[in-house]
Amino acid sequence: MSITILGIESSCDDTSAAIVRDCVLVSNVIASQKVHEFYGGVVPELASRAHQQNIVPVVSEAIRQAGISKGEINAIAFTRGPGLLGSLLVGTSFAKGLSIALGIPIVDVNHLHGHVLSHFIKEDENSEVPEFPFLCLLVSGGNSQIIKVMSPYEMQVMGQTIDDAAGEAFDKCAKVMGLPYPGGPYIDRLAAEGDASRFKFSKPHIPGLDYSFSGLKTSFLYTLRDEVAKNPDFIEQNKADLAASLQKTIIDILMDKFAQAVKETGIKIIAIGGGVSANSGFRNRVQEFADNHGLKAFIPKRAFTTDNAAMVAVAGHFKYLNKDFCSLDLPPYARVTV
Ligand code: KG4
Repeated sequence: MSITILGIESSCDDTSAAIVRDCVLVSNVIASQKVHEFYGGVVPELASRAHQQNIVPVVSEAIRQAGISKGEINAIAFTRGPGLLGSLLVGTSFAKGLSIALGIPIVDVNHLHGHVLSHFIKEDENSEVPEFPFLCLLVSGGNSQIIKVMSPYEMQVMGQTIDDAAGEAFDKCAKVMGLPYPGGPYIDRLAAEGDASRFKFSKPHIPGLDYSFSGLKTSFLYTLRDEVAKNPDFIEQNKADLAASLQKTIIDILMDKFAQAVKETGIKIIAIGGGVSANSGFRNRVQEFADNHGLKAFIPKRAFTTDNAAMVAVAGHFKYLNKDFCSLDLPPYARVTV
């Protein structure tokens, strides 16, 4: 018998609902919140209010697009954390209410597990998925982690950022250049036309497999401050080269440690996930690295790099198989690693 899961994601500023049947994607609806652009970052209070407005239409639309009746859903998977607490409360409370109304179980999902397991979202029954164990480099606005994935239930963080995440480095440096929020996609586009060897920014010297991006941000800021003092049009005249050089530095930092993790573990299957894995330069470098080292790389479709409920539904599918249900009195949580 096939298993149909409704996934709900509301950890930050995207309200999303998806239906998967045996991990095959049936529908995936995302309502993004434009309201934050004006403030240059996500405003938690506005995010939770927008989720409150979006949650009913988004879930209804996911069920409508799937062409199923509510009675066909076996369980509801929802993101319990980490994320913004007010945002998480909307998805969590909605999932609980709907589970009582439909008389079906709920499954709580760790958002980071969702990103890792996004590689198991199947477009059809023949989609290729990673074999275990694999190494996943999870890079988003809030996290930069190297994760050893032994099974859908067993993941080990081998290294992570000790300060800013890679996405924050993109966004904060983009802000210094006067680009809109979130700056990552703008840097990506500008970088395609720039010379990545033009500027050098500092790289961290952190032991082990941990990352640090705060020094790069400072180095970028000081370079721009000094150059703008000499030429007020410096940023405008050099924006493509600045973006390309910044992007290359971030990718170099990410790949140095990821390569070290591959070497230490001897694992031959690698994957990337999270918002920054949409970056064109990063995707190319990961594929190139895999090709040069005889590895198999799993690079997610861009639609599954950002926050989405399909990955939550798939992570929920695995927990459902294990009968790992969640009780109605469990609250959401704001912080946790894998
Ligand atoms: O996983 P995600 O959607 O959510 C949070 O962690 O909140 O990641 C968002 C991050 C942002 O920092 C954004 O700038 C970055 O992913 N991002 C990118 C690109 N697309 C999104 N960074 C670089 N290049 C991109 N194309």
